[in-house]
Amino acid sequence: MDDDTFPLETTGEAMRGYAERAVELLVRHLDDMSERPASHDPVSQDFIAALLAPPPERARELEPLLNRVRRAAEAAYESAGPGYLAYIPGGGMFSAALGDFLAVGLNRYTGRAGPAPACVALEESVLRWMCDLFDMPDSAQGLLTTGGSLANLIAVVAARTRHAEDRADRATIYVGEHAHGSMRKAARTAGIAATRVRRVSSSPDLRMDPHDLRRQLDEDRRAGFVPACISAAAGTTNTGTIDPLEEIAEVAAEAGVWFHIDAAYGGFFRLTSRGRARLAGIERADSITLDPHKSLFMPFGTGALVVRSNIDLRRAFAEDADYLQDLRGDSSLPDFDALCPELTREWRGLRLWLPLHLHGVTAFRAQLDEKLDLAETAHAALSRDPRIEVMGPPDLTVISFRLAGAGASAQRDFLARINASRRVLLSSTRLGGDTWLRLAILSLRTHADRVTEALSIIRDAAGAQG
Ligand SMILES: Cc1ncc(COP(=O)(O)O)c(C=O)c1O
Repeated sequence: MDDDTFPLETTGEAMRGYAERAVELLVRHLDDMSERPASHDPVSQDFIAALLAPPPERARELEPLLNRVRRAAEAAYESAGPGYLAYIPGGGMFSAALGDFLAVGLNRYTGRAGPAPACVALEESVLRWMCDLFDMPDSAQGLLTTGGSLANLIAVVAARTRHAEDRADRATIYVGEHAHGSMRKAARTAGIAATRVRRVSSSPDLRMDPHDLRRQLDEDRRAGFVPACISAAAGTTNTGTIDPLEEIAEVAAEAGVWFHIDAAYGGFFRLTSRGRARLAGIERADSITLDPHKSLFMPFGTGALVVRSNIDLRRAFAEDADYLQDLRGDSSLPDFDALCPELTREWRGLRLWLPLHLHGVTAFRAQLDEKLDLAETAHAALSRDPRIEVMGPPDLTVISFRLAGAGASAQRDFLARINASRRVLLSSTRLGGDTWLRLAILSLRTHADRVTEALSIIRDAAGAQG
């Protein structure tokens, strides 16, 4: 084939050359990750302006383009590195990148099972594994989404459709005080007005209070509202706290209301025995949001939802169209378009399937166990320092702490001193109006050495207060 006539049809030789250079870039990036700073230098406006340039009319060489990509990626938080202890980290597995590369390169249509049944089966195997992990019945269905926010949205639409299909204007939804913002966003996107999103108060240990939940449900019923969904958190973003899932499941069952659990952060800890015990009750949910890009170390853009009954998803999303009549497939496999808002989608499952098969589930379980151990160690160490106030032992791997007796600006300075090390990056939040720092241990590459270093940086920063 003539390169110049059909330049978009890359030759075999060129593909090999390109791939080699791209792989080299990635391998170097991953190999050097532990030594790179946890946060980046300020990014110059000139660099940003250069990146905003439109694509050229004429072809360019790959090398300078890869250089640009590398520099752009380096001007960022090292969110898959060992020092990333802010927010909830994600990703950095080469095997997942490989899965995605193959998925995009092979480019199979997986919106329906018909065009690529074996590819859908492969994705479905991962989804069934997730359903089984939460002891869901045979009627259950999993879905891969681009993240927890989309999973929460799909769950809320399914709940609203089941309970308030024709009465969305009267539908109410119940979320904890510390629920992730995506739950409130999901409700609003699903047509449940912000004024119908009830905030359930927390007990002093920051868990949703089932008594307040019951009270608000009763009040709303009496006022003629239609409770559509109760959403508990299995690992809040602020503090990693798990709501009392059994008790909330009881309230939801009594009230006959959809029980959703946002386990975007905490869900995959179910793979460990400690996580399984702490997440007891999660198996009673109607739907569970999971974020493989958090607690399964997958790349950003990998969310999941598990729903107890696939019928609820069908009721909410199934649409047929004349032009799709030839795409009917094997009925033992899901047509994803009938279960979610999307039709065309990438072969999303491969980035999960490949790492899970290549490394085996035990490797993931061991990583999660290690992070639970590290969080316990870090909590104990911080608790021994009289200058530092620490919240109770973490349910999972987020530790909240602050300088004892200091105000918000001192806490911000404390955080700035810690992050100035650039060996670690922590974040802060507000709880009850007070500023707290968060140490979130969930990066694949965070091991005992970096946590020990983080503790020493924190202690030095506590000693250096002005
Ligand atoms: C508890 C919780 N729920 C939902 C989300 C939203 O997930 P995503 O960012 O993947 O959309 C997050 C994190 O961002 C989270 O921590």
